[in-house]
Amino acid sequence: MSLLTIENLRVEYRRGGKRIPAVRNVSFSLAPGESLGIAGESGSGKSTVALSLLRLLPESATVTADTLCFEGQEILSLAPGPLRALRGGPVGIVFQDPFSALNPVLTVGEQVEEVLELHGEGRSRARVLSLFGQVRLPDPAGVYGAYPHQLSGGQRQRACLAIAMAGRPKLLIADEPTTALDVTVQRDILNLLDDVRRELKMALLLVTHNVGLLSERTDRLAILYAGEMVEIGPTATVLGTPSHPYTQGLLKSLPRLSHTERRLPALPGQPPDPRDIPVGCPFRPRCPSAFAPCATEDPVLRPMKNPSVHAACHLYGVTP
Ligand SMILES: Nc1ncnc2c1ncn2[C@@H]1O[C@H](COP(=O)(O)OP(=O)(O)OP(=O)(O)O)[C@@H](O)[C@H]1O
Ligand code: SF4
Ligand SMILES: [Mg+2]
Repeated sequence: MSLLTIENLRVEYRRGGKRIPAVRNVSFSLAPGESLGIAGESGSGKSTVALSLLRLLPESATVTADTLCFEGQEILSLAPGPLRALRGGPVGIVFQDPFSALNPVLTVGEQVEEVLELHGEGRSRARVLSLFGQVRLPDPAGVYGAYPHQLSGGQRQRACLAIAMAGRPKLLIADEPTTALDVTVQRDILNLLDDVRRELKMALLLVTHNVGLLSERTDRLAILYAGEMVEIGPTATVLGTPSHPYTQGLLKSLPRLSHTERRLPALPGQPPDPRDIPVGCPFRPRCPSAFAPCATEDPVLRPMKNPSVHAACHLYGVTP
C-alpha cells in the first residue's frame, strides 16, 4: 500500500494578473520507507511539488489534484487542525537554509522540546539528547544549550533534522537540504538522511539540483522539466540508461557521474517561460531528436521496455 499518492497535481501561481502553470499533471506514489529523488533545472517546479504536499505554498497558488493522499487522508481537503498536526508530525520537512528555519532567540534544545510538546510527547531533555545522537550531532549536551548562530551550517542542518524527527515522521520532505552547505558537509548530510530513513523505515522525498548526489542514495528518481515529470524510475536505471532526451542531455554533461557530485549543468537553450508553454512537447526547442508529432502532441508518461521506468516522449510511441 502506498504512503503517499499524487495524481494529476497542478499548481498555478497568479502574478501581475497572469496565471503561471508552474506544475502540470504530476503523478507519483511513495511506498512506506521508500526514497524518491526529484531533480530538474531551476524553475522546473521541484519546490512547488514539495511544498504543495503540506499546503505550504503562498496564497497566490492554486493547487488541484485528482488525488493528493497521505495515509488515506486527502490533504487538499484537510481542515486547519489536522493539517497542522500533519506538518512536523507524520510529515516532516527540512529546507535549504537551516539558519532561517531556526529561531535565533531560542536554544536549539528548547526548539526541539517545543516540537515534542506540540506533538503531545511533553518536554524531555533525555529525548532531545537522543534525537541529537540520532542525527549524529557531536556533543549533544553542548548543542542543547547552544543558540543557532553558535553552530556550524552542517550542525544547524542536523538540528533541523532533529526537529523534524521529533515528530516521528513517516515521510520526510527535504528541499535542497545541502545546497547552502560546504561541499564536504553535503555528502555527510545526505549519508545521514539515507541512514536515518533506513533505520526508521521513513519515506524520503529529496529535492535537488545535484543529480550526482542522488546516485546510490535514493531508490527512485524523478526528472522534472518545465513543470512536468518527464521520466521516473529506479535511480540506477534512470542514471545508467536514461530514456528521455532531456535526462540523456543532463547526464551526458556529467562526466564520471559515479565519482563526482555536480550541479545539473546548463543545457544549451532555455526552458520555456511557464506563462507561455508551447503546444506539443515543452522540450522540443532544445531536443536533438524532435520530429513532427513533437510540435503538436503533448507527450504523456508511458512505461518503457523496462516497465519500472516511465518517460514522456514521442520516441516511445505517439499518443493517438
Ligand atoms: N510565489 C510565486 N509566485 C509566482 N511564481 C512562482 C512562485 N514561486 C515559484 N514560482 C514559479 O514557479 C515555477 C517553479 O518554481 P519552483 O520554485 O517550484 O522551481 P524549482 O525547481 O524549485 O527551482 P529552484 O531549483 O530554483 O529552487 C518557476 O517558474 C517560478 O518562477
Ligand atoms: S517528445 Fe519529441 S521533442 Fe519531446 S523529448 Fe521526445 S523527441 Fe524530444
Ligand atoms: Mg526550489
